[in-house]
Amino acid sequence: MLTRRDALKLGSAAGAAVLFPVNRLASALSDDPPGVPPFSLPLPVPPVLKPAHRTADTDFYDMRISETELEILPGFRTRTLTFAGSFPGPTVRARRGREVVIRQFNGLRSPVTVHLHGAAVPASSDGHPMDPIAPGRARVYRYPNDQRAATLWYHDHTHELEAEQIYRGLSGAYLLSDPVETRLPLPTGEFDVPLLLRDAKFDSEGQFAFVPDDFTNRPTVLVNGRPQPHFEVKRKLYRLRLINGSNLEMFRFRLTSGAPFLQIAADGGFLRAPAVRPEIDLWPAERAEVLVDFRSVPPGTAVVLQNAVALSADKRDILQFRVGGGAPPSERESDVPSWSRTAFSPPRTEIPGWPATEPPRRQPTRTRRFVLGLDLASGRFLINGRGFDPDRVDATIEHGSTEIWEIVNGDAALGIQHSMHLHLVQFRVLDRNGKPEPAHDSFPKDTVRLYPGDVVRIQVTFDSHLGRFPFHCHFLDHAAHSMMGQFEVVPRR
Ligand code: C2O
Ligand code: CU
Repeated sequence: MLTRRDALKLGSAAGAAVLFPVNRLASALSDDPPGVPPFSLPLPVPPVLKPAHRTADTDFYDMRISETELEILPGFRTRTLTFAGSFPGPTVRARRGREVVIRQFNGLRSPVTVHLHGAAVPASSDGHPMDPIAPGRARVYRYPNDQRAATLWYHDHTHELEAEQIYRGLSGAYLLSDPVETRLPLPTGEFDVPLLLRDAKFDSEGQFAFVPDDFTNRPTVLVNGRPQPHFEVKRKLYRLRLINGSNLEMFRFRLTSGAPFLQIAADGGFLRAPAVRPEIDLWPAERAEVLVDFRSVPPGTAVVLQNAVALSADKRDILQFRVGGGAPPSERESDVPSWSRTAFSPPRTEIPGWPATEPPRRQPTRTRRFVLGLDLASGRFLINGRGFDPDRVDATIEHGSTEIWEIVNGDAALGIQHSMHLHLVQFRVLDRNGKPEPAHDSFPKDTVRLYPGDVVRIQVTFDSHLGRFPFHCHFLDHAAHSMMGQFEVVPRR
């Protein structure tokens, strides 16, 4: 582990970190590269990583983290930080009950850590910000996969460098499946698609331009690493795994066809029941799995996935689906009721064999309160008035206990959004400003949205691993400076 002094050194190596306000600096950067015509590029699907070897109960992988030149914008070579040469990183497909062991080699000149977001893992494999892989070194992360099926994602978490290193490319999808799932009539194979979405600013050379907190000046939305792509789809049911991998961008997804999504999963796995959602809010690090039904859409139709709360017109249209022909629905698929023609009358949503996931019903033993706010004097983002201190533990929790955390966005006056993410656990959002949270946003969650002034209560049971884990705002530019704390799960006395 790094000492606090090392951390400070690292912090200054991160350079012009605490910049506020930043608009002046942003305009000093060179202009955007020539725009890419909307929907001209095909949607890539990141490759599925192949295990180096397997045993009866474990899959072993190797990845190399390096800077790679990639063609993100046509005609430009963008220096990108990559896992295994890929942007986004390759998709890891894991199965519940089978351990995954990943050896990560750091081929960068900076330290790097790898965090598996949403996973219950031992502290030694959590990719704690103060536990980096030095340049030229490797380390092994072990993931027990002892939790429900979920769309997880992995990303860098190096203290004070995470915002920039993730922005420059270091994230990928990790899809954990469960035997329960294979009995459900859900789309598989080419019809089960991770979509990692994030915004960016490129300079006139086509390089990523990173200015902390500069959310108004990141005009390009990338889907699986390409700007405004199109996706040739068949007249089938699709399972889309939406992952917001942005530093700061907030999405409210909708389809131009007016058809709703059928949301089947939130951050940490399946919902208690699928939910009809005309629009879905997804803030940084949140995930939603949705079914989108093209079965009765006429061939030749174009449907656009949009962000209804985009800050600028450039960022509204995200991805175009081009509906082609295709085989008639399989028998399995016809178990899922069709709803694309019935946009205005909610479909039946029962899916045969649905595994209702319930949060643990335990009596909470204590309540804690965390207030998130920007300190205008220092330009730092703080929790309960304090920045991250790797030597401080903000909450010591006995293993097995259940707690209520009351989280307050103290930036009502400044109008700043925040969120709260806890490592290690999936929690239940009880209420927001005194009103119960709707089921689709309540459980299982690991990241919760906080509008300016919001007071949100979550209930968390700490019954998996022991050790020290971070919690933080997942607007990464806030977390980097310095909206993060730590909890420590200790053995029961
Ligand atoms: Cu997405 Cu501390 O993590
Ligand atoms: Cu924040």
